[in-house]
Amino acid sequence: MRQGDGFSSPFDIVNLCQHQSRLSQKPFYITTAIDYANGLPHIGHALEKIGADTIARYQRQLGRDVHFLMGMDEYGKKVAQSAEVAGVSPQEWTDRIAGEFESAWQALNVSNTDFIRTTELRHTAAVEEMVRRMEVKGDLYLDTYAGFYCVGCESYKAESDLIDGRCPEHPTLEVEWMEEEDWFFRLSRYREPLLRLLDGGNDFLRPESRRNEVRRMIEGIKDISVSRSGLDWGIPWPGHPDHVIYVWIDALTNYLTATGFPAPDFDEVWPADLHVIGKDIIRFHCVYWPAMLMSADLPVPRCVWAHGWMTLDGRKISKSSGAWVGIQEAAERYGVDALRYFVLREIPWDSDGNFTWQRFDERYTSELANDLGNLANRTVSMLQRYADGIVPAGEETDLDVAGLDALARYRDRMDQFLLHEGAAAAFQLVSAANAFVENRAPWKLAKDLELRADLNATLRSLVLALARIAVLLAPFMPDKMSALWTSIGGEGPLPFLDSLGNLEPAGWKASLGTVLFPRPDLAR
Ligand code: ME8
Ligand code: MG
Repeated sequence: MRQGDGFSSPFDIVNLCQHQSRLSQKPFYITTAIDYANGLPHIGHALEKIGADTIARYQRQLGRDVHFLMGMDEYGKKVAQSAEVAGVSPQEWTDRIAGEFESAWQALNVSNTDFIRTTELRHTAAVEEMVRRMEVKGDLYLDTYAGFYCVGCESYKAESDLIDGRCPEHPTLEVEWMEEEDWFFRLSRYREPLLRLLDGGNDFLRPESRRNEVRRMIEGIKDISVSRSGLDWGIPWPGHPDHVIYVWIDALTNYLTATGFPAPDFDEVWPADLHVIGKDIIRFHCVYWPAMLMSADLPVPRCVWAHGWMTLDGRKISKSSGAWVGIQEAAERYGVDALRYFVLREIPWDSDGNFTWQRFDERYTSELANDLGNLANRTVSMLQRYADGIVPAGEETDLDVAGLDALARYRDRMDQFLLHEGAAAAFQLVSAANAFVENRAPWKLAKDLELRADLNATLRSLVLALARIAVLLAPFMPDKMSALWTSIGGEGPLPFLDSLGNLEPAGWKASLGTVLFPRPDLAR
């Protein structure tokens, strides 16, 4: 198509332009893990969904269209067993549990654009097509599997994976011995391409700190069993209905299903820009999944982000460990936005972190109620007292410059998905603004008519800082930050991040709304 540096015909230019504009229009496609429908959601699940939501909202604030998928992993032995314990059919059970998860995410103001359940028909079609493609590639064969299986992980286990005969991640469960004829996937064929992907100088796996672990997994790669006999809660193996498709092959494919795959325009959304998952399922996402995609001749995702665990007294929050904090209880303490901010500020997004009610109370009181809430409240009160609520024009101050610094730091941290550091960068501007108020003492400036210009510049800079803070923290606290924006007189929806450098608040009309973050004794 290309000749030298020119184009062979005008049509090629048109094609190229269309291609490029389609590339630039491709939405940012972000997913979370789909949760097992084996019990109710807890605050550890919520950490993942809130974090992904904050990234999705940040991308929208950059002006991007976002396709944001979440959902439920409904097949497999683990789910079938919980239905049995509850004494209902698996379908009835998963209908009930999926409803619970979906309403938990709605209550947390998570802005997903799709919610997939693996028992949906659209998903069966996509999984069957994946298996067909892998078969055409010559990557599937029948063999006997003999070994252990952990229902907690829904995973086959080598003896060397076990500690005292138990799965280290599910020490309360017994592993099962299995011996059956299964379909196998020639995973070992993908050892070299997977190593090249991992070490290819790209963002395939973040944070970097997990790379060695995944390299060891790839180096020790073996073919895997991808079907189960004697289990009927699953998608039947095409042409062999006495087998069901192994639940992880089924589950991983959900990310493709939601793009419309195998319909031809699925590549308007695929590949995913970001899969957000927990570090416990890194093997499935960084080894099995890209190998399946390579086998099916499909592009691999751009980035897998493996976050850490939320713990309680040092133990991973989970159903099987008994370490449990309910989402509703946590949201009722200070409201949804305070919870969203707290978990993302407190638990480093790239490692483990402990949840404690005491830290929640401390951060709420000192950061939200005092530092940010008071700043907003004081600023609007002073505007009303000294300027009839209208933001005056004024000279630039050092707080405006500090705001640009915070913005740059925030963008850098958020572009690297380091959410706790992004929130911290926004809070540096809160601290700078509080120091600025003390330093400038507008109540003193107001007493002297000759200092009017200083007073005006001070008030304007405070509003500008609050406007910027509202935009930076909106992905974390969407409702509270739009209330803040409105109370300082910002018009319309929150502006895009790119326009924050030139924002001019002079002329805005501020109005005292309800207190953003009431003091704890009043909040509860
Ligand atoms: O693994 N802290 O489902 P799942 C942080 N169905 N994250 C946690 C957590 C905690 N205490 N507990 C759970 C599965 N998670 C599969 C996924 S994806 C194709 C299939 C996270 O319900 C966990 O790391 O066991 C995972 O990313 C997600 O919640 C669902 O876990
Ligand atoms: Mg799990």
